[in-house]
Amino acid sequence: MHSVRDKLKFFSQFLRNPKMIGSVIPTSDSAIATMLSRVDWAQTRLFVEYGPGMGTFTRPILAQLRADARLVVIDTCPSFVAHLRASIDDPRLRVVHGSAADVETILGTRTGGDRADYVLSGLPLSTLPAGVAEQIAESTARALRPGGSFLIYQYSRWFLRLLDPWFARVDHRWVWPNIPPCVIAEARTEEDALAGEVQAAGNLVIEHPDKKVA
Ligand SMILES: C[S@@+](CC[C@H](N)C(=O)[O-])C[C@H]1O[C@@H](n2cnc3c(N)ncnc32)[C@H](O)[C@@H]1O
Repeated sequence: MHSVRDKLKFFSQFLRNPKMIGSVIPTSDSAIATMLSRVDWAQTRLFVEYGPGMGTFTRPILAQLRADARLVVIDTCPSFVAHLRASIDDPRLRVVHGSAADVETILGTRTGGDRADYVLSGLPLSTLPAGVAEQIAESTARALRPGGSFLIYQYSRWFLRLLDPWFARVDHRWVWPNIPPCVIAEARTEEDALAGEVQAAGNLVIEHPDKKVA
């Protein structure tokens, strides 16, 4: 839950750079809870968050993350990065000033660095510069371990088609209590396809982007 001061700080960053921030208010508690309910915390050693902003997801992630796990958050906005570094003192957290498109370099996955169990995106994918969202989808698939998950929320479903070339399975659902209502999606890398069949019995709508998304 954010203070009024934090919300004003978020809004002032939106006014400075609306396309990079993408929203006038931080994500709602119901969307956060729905997103994080997908996470198997006991098995999570490396969690990556894109676009943490004021830490809307960062704090709930840290609250549930194992003591021996790591959280790497990546944001392009220096003001948000400075805020997070100053306000969260947790040895599991690494705050990176950079772009999610460079996640492989940041994690060092091409040179033997650990791959992530989960990547959660708070990015405004639809308003990023041309080609960046596509690059992020591809880099994220490479930065995840086999069977890892990419968790995303957006305000329309168009982004689902970006995930299709890189992920074995994409599930999504709407969260109506969020203002405005948002879509959350979980995209899983190859090894998890079988487990996905089991999870499909849960509450997510299973939709193949090519077949259903306009
Ligand atoms: C809508 S805000 C989300 C803030 C917060 N996660 C929330 O849910 O309330 C989008 C965030 O993405 C960041 N951002 C935009 N483009 C980015 C990129 N290429 N890589 C990393 N962060 C980026 C912005 O600076 C901003 O903090």
